[in-house]
Amino acid sequence: EKHVFKHFMLKEIHEQPGVVRDCLQAYLDAECELESEKISEKSAEKSSEKKTPSPIHLSIPSSWYQDLEQIEILACGTSWHASLVGKYLLEQLAGIPTIVQYASEARYAPTPLRPNTITIGVTQSGETADTLASLAMEQHRRVNARPEYAAKLLGITNRPESSLAQLVPHIIDTRAGIEIGVAATKTFMAQLIAFYLLALDIAWHRQTLPQSRLLEILKDLRQIPAQMEQLLQDQEKHIEELAHDFNETHDFIFLGRGINFPIALEGALKLKEISYIHAEGYPAGEMKHGPIALLDEKVPVVAIAMPGSVYEKVISNAQEAKARDARLIGVMPKEEPEAKETFNDVLGVPCVDEILSPILTVIPLQLLAYHIAARRGLDVDQPRNLAKSVTVE
Ligand code: M6R
Repeated sequence: EKHVFKHFMLKEIHEQPGVVRDCLQAYLDAECELESEKISEKSAEKSSEKKTPSPIHLSIPSSWYQDLEQIEILACGTSWHASLVGKYLLEQLAGIPTIVQYASEARYAPTPLRPNTITIGVTQSGETADTLASLAMEQHRRVNARPEYAAKLLGITNRPESSLAQLVPHIIDTRAGIEIGVAATKTFMAQLIAFYLLALDIAWHRQTLPQSRLLEILKDLRQIPAQMEQLLQDQEKHIEELAHDFNETHDFIFLGRGINFPIALEGALKLKEISYIHAEGYPAGEMKHGPIALLDEKVPVVAIAMPGSVYEKVISNAQEAKARDARLIGVMPKEEPEAKETFNDVLGVPCVDEILSPILTVIPLQLLAYHIAARRGLDVDQPRNLAKSVTVE
């Protein structure tokens, strides 16, 4: 039931804070236990005692983490974008080299086998033909190999009863439930949370991060659902009104860097699939290598500019776009001085630790795509030529 919402997509966008809460509740120790971990961690630091058990419970055999050399991820579409955020987390937090492949490409050009690899299939439907076939192929080619090459297959999905779950021995059920809108929103969000938990669990086991940093990220993760609610409340009307300005727009550019580059890709995909507007997501630093030639006053540029390691770089890339007369829309905290100085419009996002920022920055982009498409009177939940699960190659 859509209840008060005009479309399932809008309802599912608004369900996201609850989805994050449910996922954290399912796999993470309660807050009070985290606090006591912190205390015992302090004393452990002092007395250099053994490390405490991980506060994250994914039921992945810890033996999988021991000699782990590589993670490979197979996915399509929006799940592929979530996997790119996952790569960033697995590399930057857990220190594991990670490759992300389009399942449709990996089927015909698999990466050479490497030992001690976890292979992850990510799919909201659990039925995407390419993702299933590439996982089956991976399993097959590791069958007769030496023990260190044995397949360690993991699935990330919200459909624990799907074909994916039958194919792989372990899944992380993201707890997002069934999604109706063809454009993935809440399932993407839940995939992101699964990747945070996985990367932090590996980091815990392999001690690649100071425990105090790890606990700080977990604590901030707990705050995120409330910040998501605040964002939805602050931005919904504003973005609905802003959408009026793009009735005649034919092209959009989305820019991001670092952990928010995949969010630029996701913002562009959401817009094209439901509004049929041509949109491209680009790493902001790549603009000058080609796409800047597209810019003029008719092409809005959405730049994700969250405070952190690449903030100044993104601002300077955005200024380059502005110098070509592009209308500049910032996805950023409203309080930043550049919000007023540099951008024509700002989709305000609460200030958070950069590592968690994709959870928030994707929401205004989902709303922007939704309101532009809804305003054009399009069939938001069932866009032309698309299906909710792609069970053919
Ligand atoms: O069910 P999956 O997550 O495997 O689906 C993959 C893509 O088909 C899917 O993400 C598609 O790109 C969506 N319509 C995006 O909103």
